Amino acid sequence: MNNQTDLIEIAKQTLIKNDLGGYTVPTHGLYPFQWNWDSAITALGWMKFDEARAWQELELLFSGQWDNGMIPHVLFHKESDTYFPGPDVWGSDKKVKSTSISQPPVLASVMKIMFDSCQDRALVDQKMAEFMPKLVEYHLWWYRERDPEQTGLVVSYHPWESGMDNSPAWDDALAAVPPVTWQYTRCDTTHINASERPHKEEYDRFLYLVEFFKNHNFDSNYIYQHCPYKVNDIGIIAILHKATKDLIELCKLANYAHPELQTLVDNVKLTESSINTLWYAEEQYFYSRNALTDTLCKVKTNAGLLTLYAGLVSPSQAAVLKPLAKSWATASTYSMASTHPKSDKYEPQRYWRGPIWLHINWMIAEGFADYDDIELADMLKNDAKHLIEKTGYYEYFHADSGAGCGGGAFSWTAAIALYWLLDNPAVTK
Ligand code: DGY
Repeated sequence: MNNQTDLIEIAKQTLIKNDLGGYTVPTHGLYPFQWNWDSAITALGWMKFDEARAWQELELLFSGQWDNGMIPHVLFHKESDTYFPGPDVWGSDKKVKSTSISQPPVLASVMKIMFDSCQDRALVDQKMAEFMPKLVEYHLWWYRERDPEQTGLVVSYHPWESGMDNSPAWDDALAAVPPVTWQYTRCDTTHINASERPHKEEYDRFLYLVEFFKNHNFDSNYIYQHCPYKVNDIGIIAILHKATKDLIELCKLANYAHPELQTLVDNVKLTESSINTLWYAEEQYFYSRNALTDTLCKVKTNAGLLTLYAGLVSPSQAAVLKPLAKSWATASTYSMASTHPKSDKYEPQRYWRGPIWLHINWMIAEGFADYDDIELADMLKNDAKHLIEKTGYYEYFHADSGAGCGGGAFSWTAAIALYWLLDNPAVTK
């Protein structure tokens, strides 16, 4: 077991070693590029010991923004042969090569935290002037392109967009996507034990969707009408909602006026008025929905609990979610398993089908604290702390044994430790 000072130092060194010159890879080998939500979370860690570097992380992320406002899920700044599928498969045609989907937009919430905590106020002013127009465009993109019929619930076109790639919530929707029939070689299972990664059947369909976007020239209207995978992802919806509220607040704090700010305010209201269509009364839980079949994805995954983080839960719903979350948190040795341990889909070591992810623990703990359940928030935080003390900075953790899974020396786990878990006052450079 490492002591607190060692853990802080190891976390900082993890970020420094994963720095490829302004952006941080999640881990070397397995993920050798800049990932969208990884980078945002990682900036929270940099903030604790190098504020300028934290803002630079975002600068590199914004550098890959598309003209339509989208910030892609992966930016291929430099070539690497340790990852598949790379830019050629995605058919990237932008200045910064990238994928053609996005990822959970936690960025504005992170920027709000950075704005509030940054000690170098001159740097904040400079970065706000630079980034705020881009950040607003990113959010407008989500609502314009992913909710063109103004339902209040954006859609996602790929499980990778959810960040929760092989969540059992996607099983039925993904099964309807045709598999690719060409041969390919995965790289992930050369780095990581296959028992901790998605199955080939899922990859065949992940790749079909990647080609579908490319074959249709990334045409938003066409994809909205014809994509064979279209899901109202409760995780994205919740993270977007919280981030849009943070962005509106940030605009006020930073004294930034955007002509379309009211559109964001309107979309916040719209989501609030439609979120209950994802509440399944019979099981008293929020689920994602397969928008193509209009059926809820009824597997209890931790994404449903992000509604608390988003402030989308009514008092009576919170009263039901609290005891559910308590029994969920104690059904595995450590909390919070990404799939409910009593579900027949639960696999405690396989990527998004059961293991614990510390950045999600952080969001869920924030949500429970906001709804006055400090005990549950503390349980999630203490378990997360035990996991890093016992195992170190892995990508995710086996919910029963606590073993580290996926990539090691992982940026967002180290960043969450620096930001949330370790008693670690900020130091300015
Ligand atoms: C992967 O390659 O496993 C990533 O999660 C895709 O974003």
